[in-house]
This record gives sequence, C-alpha cells and structure tokens, in this order.
Amino acid sequence: MQMMARLKEPADGAASRHGPAFATARVLVVGGAGFVGSNLVQHLLDCGVERIRVVDNLLSADRSNIPSDDRVEFVEGSIADDRVLSGIRDEWDYAFHLATYHGNQSSIQDPLADHENNTLTTLKLYESIKGFGRLKKVVYSSAGCSVAAKTWEAAHATTEDEPVSLFMDSPYSISKLIGELYSNYYFTRHKLPVVKARFQNVYGPREILGAGRWRGTPATVWRNVTPTFMYRALKGLPLVLDNGGIATRDFIYVDDIVEGLLRCALHGKPGEPYNLASGHETSIRALAEKIMVLTSSPSTLTIGPARDWDRSGKRFGSTEKSSNSLGFAARTTLDEGLQIMTDWTRNSLAVIENCLRQHANNMRGCNEPLDWL
Ligand SMILES: NC(=O)c1ccc[n+]([C@@H]2O[C@H](COP(=O)([O-])OP(=O)(O)OC[C@H]3O[C@@H](n4cnc5c(N)ncnc54)[C@H](O)[C@@H]3O)[C@@H](O)[C@H]2O)c1
Repeated sequence: MQMMARLKEPADGAASRHGPAFATARVLVVGGAGFVGSNLVQHLLDCGVERIRVVDNLLSADRSNIPSDDRVEFVEGSIADDRVLSGIRDEWDYAFHLATYHGNQSSIQDPLADHENNTLTTLKLYESIKGFGRLKKVVYSSAGCSVAAKTWEAAHATTEDEPVSLFMDSPYSISKLIGELYSNYYFTRHKLPVVKARFQNVYGPREILGAGRWRGTPATVWRNVTPTFMYRALKGLPLVLDNGGIATRDFIYVDDIVEGLLRCALHGKPGEPYNLASGHETSIRALAEKIMVLTSSPSTLTIGPARDWDRSGKRFGSTEKSSNSLGFAARTTLDEGLQIMTDWTRNSLAVIENCLRQHANNMRGCNEPLDWL
C-alpha cells in the first residue's frame, strides 16, 4: 500500500492545543478515509487519542489516506449498512460524521446514490446512536454552499441564521440540509448532542483527484477546483475558468477546518450551527493565477461555459459566531496553504495519477480530453 507523505504538525498546532482534551478519548470518524476525514484522523492521533474507528466505504477515498497506526481500526463499509451499524456500541466519546456522496455534480448525475450515501447515512447513524450515554458530542459536517444566497451579484458574508432557499441546486445540497434537519431533530427529541459545522471550500493535502469509484461524471476525477488547478498547473495543462472564473469562494485550509471541528467537539453547543470559514472572498480566476505563479507553471488559462446548475456564484462565510463562541479563526493564509499543497501534490503524484488512471475508460466514454494521461 502506498502511504501519503506525513505532514509536519506545527509546534503550536492542534495537537499541542487540544492534546489533553482528547488524550484518552475514543473517537468514531465516519468518512474518515476521505480528504477532511483523514486529516482529522491524523490530528486526533497527534492529540494522543486512545483509539479511533474509521467507517468508510471508499466511495470517494483512497485507502492510502488512512494513517497507519495501531490505534486506528478501519471498517470498510457503508454507515447505512445495518451490519456496520450493529458493530457500533456505546463506547465512543466523540463522533465526527463526514461521510458524503461527493459532490454536487455526482449527485445531479445520480440522485439515488446521493440519497443512499448522503441522506440515509445520516439518518441511520443517528437512529443507531441516539441512546448512547457516553457520547460527549457528535459533529456533523454541513456545507456553506447549501445555506449561501443563490446570487451572482456582490456577496455578503453568510451568517449561521441566514434564510435558506427551498430551491436547492443539487441533491447534494438537499442532503446536507436534510442532515442538518435530522441533527436538529435528534438533538431536540433524543438529546443527541449534535453540533453542525458548516464548511466553506476546503483545500489542502490528502484531497486525491480520482480517489474512489466512478460516480458517473468527470467530477469523479476533478473533484474540487483547487486540487484540479494545482495538478494541471504542475503538469503544464490548461486551466479552465468556468464562466471566466468570476465566481467567488471562501477557501479555507484543511488544518484550519480540523481545528474548527475539534473546537466544535469541545466547545460547540449541541443543536447549534457554526461556520468554519476564512471570511475572505477569492475569485476562481485569482485562485488560478496564484497557483500558476506558485508552481511556476507554463499552463494557459482558458475560458469555459458557466456551470448550468450553479446559482450560488458568489459567496463567503461570516466568521463572527465561530470566533465569539468557539474562539475559532482560520490562521493559514491562502498563499501559505497553497504552498504546502503544492509541495504535497508534487510528492504525491504517483498516488494521484494511480487514482486518475483508474477512470480513463469512463472519461473516454464522456468524451473528456485525456490530456492528463
Ligand atoms: N471539502 C469541502 O470543500 C467541503 C465543503 C463543505 C462541506 N464538506 C463536507 O465535509 C465532509 C467531508 O468532505 P471531503 O471533502 O473530505 O469529501 P471526501 O469525498 O473526501 O470524503 C467523504 C468520505 O465519505 C465516504 N463515504 C461516502 N459514502 C459513505 C457511506 N455510505 N458510508 C461511509 N462512508 C462513506 C467517502 O468514501 C469519503 O471517504 C462531507 O460531509 C462534505 O459534505 C466538504
């Protein structure tokens, strides 16, 4: 098995800040082989946790992401599977629920698969753990894109109590909101101590392009914009700016998201949502240009059509509540985070290209250029 390069924890990182709180903890991480989940698992190990169970069906993850450590037990399977659920007993101090059907475009392609892996998962997990007495907190990973205003006009910082449209852009967004509704229901009805962490656009090491199974669309390979641009820039391939790259996003480095998740677990009030955001708005064009400079790339920028499903053109998150209530602030600048990600991508090309290659035939079937092969 190929292992990812181990990333160095800074001296004042999560392990030194939260180590004592998690030192003897037992933690369940659903979706723990994925991008964010595997970063969280590594940080929890650095905090000295007693043990971690990762439940993941490797639908959008590569096995190599799971840290090799005796304290990590990996259960390969779906959290919607009754056999997997029956093995989860009342022995966990914290549960982080990060499983999802990745992502918007895959869910548009196959709404039933999204339901199975993004909605049913949350319901079955909560139904199964609702009576547990040992659980101090359950942290649900929600998405800022579901809550943000659907606009291409100037964005305002999305707050936690923003009115939410009943017209979502994708089954993925619907599922993330249903997950919040179930979180609220199981909290009020069953006192399950769920906190909802609403992520903005996360980037950083361990997001492996093409990881997992084919999900019916080229988005299986290209996942999110940051790793796609990073890989293509390093390979000298064109970077495509949908709609001229005028969309804006709030990019947050993965270590900051992990820090926010740990703070939600320790300090989040059950029933409450918290934005995990940088509070900065960056256009997709500016992101591409930064990556080109950082990687000294000979790539060109090309203009593609607008994504016809995406009405949430401009958005960023408000940091006020998470700052006041959790003491959370994203500490990594976009330049710093992209630099770390550049180094990681360079060092992880063998794993990334292995994952990309497994989808070559399906990409051919979609008439997608195979310039990356
Ligand atoms: N990355 C982002 O920018 C972002 C933004 C907003 C919200 N989120 C949320 O954060 C969480 C983690 O996202 P990520 O970026 O790490 O994605 P990811 O695809 O890397 O991780 C999701 C994991 O869930 C696993 N999974 C899928 N179906 C499952 C099932 N039935 N049972 C068990 N595991 C299953 C996948 O194999 C994968 O490992 C998700 O809930 C996502 O909705 C992420």
